[in-house]
Amino acid sequence: MRPARWDGAVPAPVLGQAPKRSMIVHPTRLLSMLLLVLLVLLAAGPGAREALAQPAPDASLARRMQACTPCHGKEGRATPDGYFPRIAGKPAGYLFNQLVNFRDGRRENATMAELVAHLDDAYLRDIAAHFAALDLPYVAPAPGRSEASAQLARGEALARQGDASRGVPACAACHGGRLTGALPAWPGLVGLPRDYLLGQLGAWRTGQRRAAAPDCMGTIARRLDAADIEAVTRWLAAQAPGSEMKPAAALPTPPLECGSGAR
Ligand code: HEC
Ligand code: HEC
Repeated sequence: MRPARWDGAVPAPVLGQAPKRSMIVHPTRLLSMLLLVLLVLLAAGPGAREALAQPAPDASLARRMQACTPCHGKEGRATPDGYFPRIAGKPAGYLFNQLVNFRDGRRENATMAELVAHLDDAYLRDIAAHFAALDLPYVAPAPGRSEASAQLARGEALARQGDASRGVPACAACHGGRLTGALPAWPGLVGLPRDYLLGQLGAWRTGQRRAAAPDCMGTIARRLDAADIEAVTRWLAAQAPGSEMKPAAALPTPPLECGSGAR
């Protein structure tokens, strides 16, 4: 069984970090971790962290960013692994905020935190701009088992209309009418694996993920109940990519104030 939220921990020698928590490693998970280690070694040679920290003068940013591909896919397009989020083509302001959040402890992921621990804002802005500028096709979701249609209908209603009785605005009000995000810093919700979506909403509910105050997304995650989270993540992850996946140029005034999205 796939863990609901993978904390990204990789055995210490690879990225030179000590995993934060002790983990009970399931055999299949161990196998995928070993595969990941192999991929990291193949792709990043001496180690992703070193590749980032000591760029050779001739190494372009694009080359240095190959350190990210074992997990985020070729050029940040995400892998079929089922957890890793795509980063290519997301709004630069959003990507920058996340890199800062990992560095400054508002998001907890041992690998990501280690990678960006010593990088300054200027470098993080360059990294964010690099991935934001990539315009690569989205991969259609693998055909899932046939979902309960009432659940999918509930998921779609939350995404498009929200639920006023719970004080939950439509996801589309902040994530863009096509749910592909909006500039400068509103992320899209389509094209993300279901396990990742579940992981993020769960992390907001437990306080493991926070955004700059006021953290509107934390408020919304806590207003959703477990059945709503099941429904909305199922519907989102089942959406085939549309012909236009770029973030919208701007949003109308969002229904709640958000410290991170507006930047
Ligand atoms: C060993 C695997 C691994 C490597 C290598 C890696 N990442 Fe990540 N990254 C992850 C995981 C796992 C997450 C999701 C963490 C979570 O659950 O919050 C993540 C999340 C992110 C996010 C947030 C995405 C979102 O939608 O919020 C960004 C941005 C990111 N990584 C950038 C990078 C960059 C840039 C590099 C290369 C310098 C990189 N990552 C290398 C595993 C990795
Ligand atoms: C009031 C505005 C607002 C509404 C409404 C909203 N969100 Fe968000 N959401 C945000 C902001 C802002 C972020 C980025 C936070 C950050 O910078 O970490 C975000 C981030 C997310 C992320 C993380 C994306 C990633 O790549 O890691 C998920 C998942 C998410 N929202 C799900 C939802 C769902 C599901 C709904 C509808 C039920 C919803 N949101 C409604 C503002 C909103």
